[in-house]
Amino acid sequence: MFAVILLCLFSWSLQGVCGSVFVSESVMEGDSVLLSVNITEAQRRDGIMWTYGPNSIPISKLKADNKYIYYNGPDGMFRDRLKLNETGSLIITDIRIKHSGLYYISTTSQEKPFKIFNITVYTLLPVPVISNSSSNSVLYCSMLCSVMNVAHVSLSWYKGKSLLSSISVSEHSNINISLHLKCLDDSYTCVINNPITNQTQHLNTDVCHKCPDFSENFICKCGFTEAVIRLVLSALVGVAAVAVVVYDFRSRRDEQ
Ligand SMILES: *[C@@H]1O[C@H](CO)[C@@H](O)[C@H](O)[C@H]1NC(C)=O
Ligand SMILES: *[C@@H]1O[C@H](CO)[C@@H](O)[C@H](O)[C@H]1NC(C)=O
Ligand SMILES: *[C@@H]1O[C@H](CO)[C@@H](O)[C@H](O)[C@H]1NC(C)=O
Ligand SMILES: *[C@@H]1O[C@H](CO)[C@@H](O)[C@H](O)[C@H]1NC(C)=O
Repeated sequence: MFAVILLCLFSWSLQGVCGSVFVSESVMEGDSVLLSVNITEAQRRDGIMWTYGPNSIPISKLKADNKYIYYNGPDGMFRDRLKLNETGSLIITDIRIKHSGLYYISTTSQEKPFKIFNITVYTLLPVPVISNSSSNSVLYCSMLCSVMNVAHVSLSWYKGKSLLSSISVSEHSNINISLHLKCLDDSYTCVINNPITNQTQHLNTDVCHKCPDFSENFICKCGFTEAVIRLVLSALVGVAAVAVVVYDFRSRRDEQ
């Protein structure tokens, strides 16, 4: 938005952009995205045009004679992906990273777009991988949490719900973040996230041994099972005790 305002201030050629409705949307790769407008009768009679990108390349038109026209766009990037509906809204199916950018809708007689969409497409995230780092020793657990080939994400270590450390990248890259512990004393997680989604990996005892006084329940959430086992055991002990008493009573009676 700020960028557009700046453009408005400094560029006469883009003055048409100023005063348009501006919408920002974040979507996931593979989604079908609706660029929603509701054109007036006057706009329909005039005919509308959707354009895309810095050069405002035409991608579809709804002409005055009610004809729908679709263009493939640069390198055919919009081939078979576009659908206009009767409100003038544009649907982009199976959207990809390369479709990120600005979409403009204007009428045939006025070049100035009446609505602009800033669409940011985010990738599906891989689950992070936790491994022993090379600096692992008998005394310390040194872990490395890594993800391959990601962009516009943050990778973070959490102890319970509190953030321990975090790194962010914007360009495509392989990233990792380390964690050094003496032993496992809480539930640790490594989380990758972008503005709309996240993936989590839990640190377990295969990679780091737990501290002597760290309750097992916390990690395996076996509290319920344990409770059931205890209940069954106490019941068995109770039954056994009653049986012993009854047996004892009977044998004494038989002796008499
Ligand atoms: C569009 O949205 C993205 C992500 O939020 C942002 O980085 C970019 O600056 C926006 N572009 C404009 C022109 O506002
Ligand atoms: C579009 O606008 C017209 C009149 O302004 C209204 O009757 C109609 O319900 C709207 N359609 C949608 C899908 O919002
Ligand atoms: C991950 O996403 C879920 C669901 O969208 C959300 O509830 C949770 O807070 C997110 N976690 C982090 C660490 O961003
Ligand atoms: C990580 O290192 C610890 C200590 O050296 C070792 O016990 C454990 O098996 C290693 N785990 C993996 C997954 O390599």
